[in-house]
Amino acid sequence: MSTLRFDPHRAFARSDGRSDPTSGLTPEHGVTDAEFAALAGPVERAVREMIDERCLCSLRPAQVEARRAQGYDIDASFLDVPGALLDDHAGRRPVIPLPSSLSAVLFLADEVRKRVAEVDAFVVLGIGGSFLGASALMNAFAHPFHNELPVDQRGGGPRIYFAGTTIDPVDHRSLLDRLGGKFLLNVISKSGTTFETAAGYRVLRKALIDRGVKPEELSRYIIGVTGAGPRSVLQKLAAEPHKEMRLLMMPECVGGRYSVFTPVGLLPAAVAGVDVLSLLRGAAEMTERCLEPDMNANPAAHYAAVHYALYQKGCHIRVLSMWQKRLEAIGWWYDQLCAESLGKKGLGPTPLTSVCTRDLHSRGQQHQQGLYNRAITNLIIERDEPVFYAGTDKARPTGAALELPGVPQDLTEKDGLDGYRHLAGKGFDVFNKAARSGTNAAYRDDDRPMADIILPDASEHTIGGLMQMLMIATVIEGKMLGINPYGQPGVEAYKRNMMLRLKG
Ligand code: PA5
Repeated sequence: MSTLRFDPHRAFARSDGRSDPTSGLTPEHGVTDAEFAALAGPVERAVREMIDERCLCSLRPAQVEARRAQGYDIDASFLDVPGALLDDHAGRRPVIPLPSSLSAVLFLADEVRKRVAEVDAFVVLGIGGSFLGASALMNAFAHPFHNELPVDQRGGGPRIYFAGTTIDPVDHRSLLDRLGGKFLLNVISKSGTTFETAAGYRVLRKALIDRGVKPEELSRYIIGVTGAGPRSVLQKLAAEPHKEMRLLMMPECVGGRYSVFTPVGLLPAAVAGVDVLSLLRGAAEMTERCLEPDMNANPAAHYAAVHYALYQKGCHIRVLSMWQKRLEAIGWWYDQLCAESLGKKGLGPTPLTSVCTRDLHSRGQQHQQGLYNRAITNLIIERDEPVFYAGTDKARPTGAALELPGVPQDLTEKDGLDGYRHLAGKGFDVFNKAARSGTNAAYRDDDRPMADIILPDASEHTIGGLMQMLMIATVIEGKMLGINPYGQPGVEAYKRNMMLRLKG
């Protein structure tokens, strides 16, 4: 099993030399050694505060509500969820209460996968934090053309669609056209009150009934995931007398965008054939590393410190640059995590996901020569080796050797063609590496701040660690900025205005 090598000394170390690969801050980026060293104290305070809040998470639900009423924000359970799920699964006592176990998630995922001959489509309905984590995992690990492949080539799982991320009728209508017949529905809403999800649920539920599912059979087709809050309609729909869905519950004190390692992200991932145990192990191990108060020994703290320093120097745009297209949705997930957590009180960086080399032909110009207001972080996978669908010997596609074919000899000699003749036989991984190194060198020559997150591979274990590290870093950075990284009070304004306009 791989370990996530997010070595702060390499990944975000301050590099005075101009060796490649470059990473981290140099004084040319406007952050002096002394300024950076001075962040050690604020980082340590932020980490300790996060740990203190974590301790509140083992309270009982009534105590949690009481603390909330006193103004405490205790959504820090995401720190403990991966380890708690694994402990519980292994028969050990979990450190926080778990309303739904990992076994329950795996049981339902297995059932969905076994029904693939009968119902070959699994629709995940949710928005924001109830969508982006699952979509990131699906994109990172499933075949990019998953839904177009025959079942044996997609690891034995059903086709997977995401719904409810807009209120554009074309989205719903076209999905229903594509689905054709019956489907399995996974409706996810922590609050159980989100309009987009509620509207999508009505449309998809009606489609199931129109397609021959009897109301009393609905629970064979619908799995809900929700929180324990009293307003969640999903809880009511799962209970007597409706009983129209089976339910997985989110642990208390986990916010939507921090919920990827709860049933919110784990059920769709397990249905897609992702090894969720390995994912959770990576996340749990990363948590342990990120509780260290010393920023030089804590990857998340180091990430937060570097980005905080750059933000203070005017790098208000934060580019996460992916060199594998299948990681783009992890970037979108981070966009939400960063924007909704830190975009408060007139502060906060603007996150931007970029895929290279695609975006070097669009945004690249601006990154290179536009305003000096951005920090660029490359996400680098050192060994892009085959990863297998959980429980099968089927490998997903990876960066395994693809060589550049030559062109006919006569044409080459006659025209000189495009000057790429000497590259025939070289691997695309070599091109990707050269493009990255060339891009880094160009940024460096123009003193554009950048850093590298270096991952050993793209396995579940590694990606689990990466996502947990980014969540922890976001909390630490929020605390350094004096922002509550949990909650999203600003989003409520549009909802309120929208409902005022819809009042009967
Ligand atoms: O991060 C968050 O909390 C939000 O983005 C929510 O996930 C999003 O608004 C959806 O909420 P819910 O899961 O309650 O439907």
